[in-house]
Amino acid sequence: MSGSATEAFQFTPEYMEQAKAILAKYPQGRERSGVLPLLDLAQRQLGWVSTGVVEEVARITKTPRMKVLEVATFYTMYKHSPKGRHHVEVCTNIACWLRGSDEVLRAIKDELGIDVGGQTGDDLFSLAEAECLGACCNAPMLQIGDEYFEDLTYETTRDLVRKLKRGEPVKVGSQIGRSGSEPEGGPTTLAEFCTTSKVGGAE
Ligand code: FES
Repeated sequence: MSGSATEAFQFTPEYMEQAKAILAKYPQGRERSGVLPLLDLAQRQLGWVSTGVVEEVARITKTPRMKVLEVATFYTMYKHSPKGRHHVEVCTNIACWLRGSDEVLRAIKDELGIDVGGQTGDDLFSLAEAECLGACCNAPMLQIGDEYFEDLTYETTRDLVRKLKRGEPVKVGSQIGRSGSEPEGGPTTLAEFCTTSKVGGAE
């Protein structure tokens, strides 16, 4: 995660190939449609969306800089300052709060010694609170990068952070083995259908 807010930004050749592939999906003259995915791509390269990123995406998509900035500041997925390599976003909205997000946050603070908005000295972790991330049925949960970690407790959150510190593989999704958003303990309705039907299969 690098770069200052005003530093010029350019896609590396590898990322530029991906940027061209994204733009090729849209008709000529409609490059503006690529603003969202190009901001995301730039964030994957730089780690965050700097002013330089906004300017470069505006140039490539032939879009006014202010329009790109409006998009970049509307969606919380875009970060506007450098974050840790593992940017931990803990949902503290109502379902997660009722199901123990305070304990999830406490485990991270205990393990990393940082508060919400903080970053570890080695830049490995940063911590943020998030509004509902759409996984309420498996609350409490947190997001790191593209991955969701669900059905967390103090202990499983602490173990997750410890594994990330050591660079070990981690289990994504439900930490108690739920499949999707099924109830704890397995399906409770249409159980017979679930075991006998071939969803999407030929008769
Ligand atoms: S309230 Fe946490 S995912 Fe919806």
